[in-house]
Amino acid sequence: MLSRKSPSQNFLKFSMTDAKTVQIRFLPNDVSVVATVGEGLLQVADRAGVMIPTGCLMGSCHACEVEVEEGEAICACISAVPPGLDEMTINLFVDPTW
Ligand code: FES
Repeated sequence: MLSRKSPSQNFLKFSMTDAKTVQIRFLPNDVSVVATVGEGLLQVADRAGVMIPTGCLMGSCHACEVEVEEGEAICACISAVPPGLDEMTINLFVDPTW
C-alpha cells in the first residue's frame, strides 16, 4: 500500500524512530552519555558536560584532538559518532602545555 506521506515525511519518521544510539564514554573522568550515530563529537561532549578545547573548528589546529579506540587520534570538531558500534570510548588528552 502506498503511503500518503511525502518522501521527506517518511525520512523524518525514519530518522526519529530508527536512529541508532551509541554509549559514549569519556576518559579520564569516566563520564558516559548516550549519543546518536552521526551526532558531532563536540555536541556529545557538551551534552555530557565534558569540555574539549577547540580552536579553528575546521580540522586544522588539532586543539580538539582526542584519542578513540586503539589509540587513534582524531579531531573532535570534524568527527561524528560512527555507525556500527554499541559503545565508544573517547580519551581526552591531558596536555598541561596546551
Ligand atoms: S578545533 Fe581546530 S582541529 Fe578541531
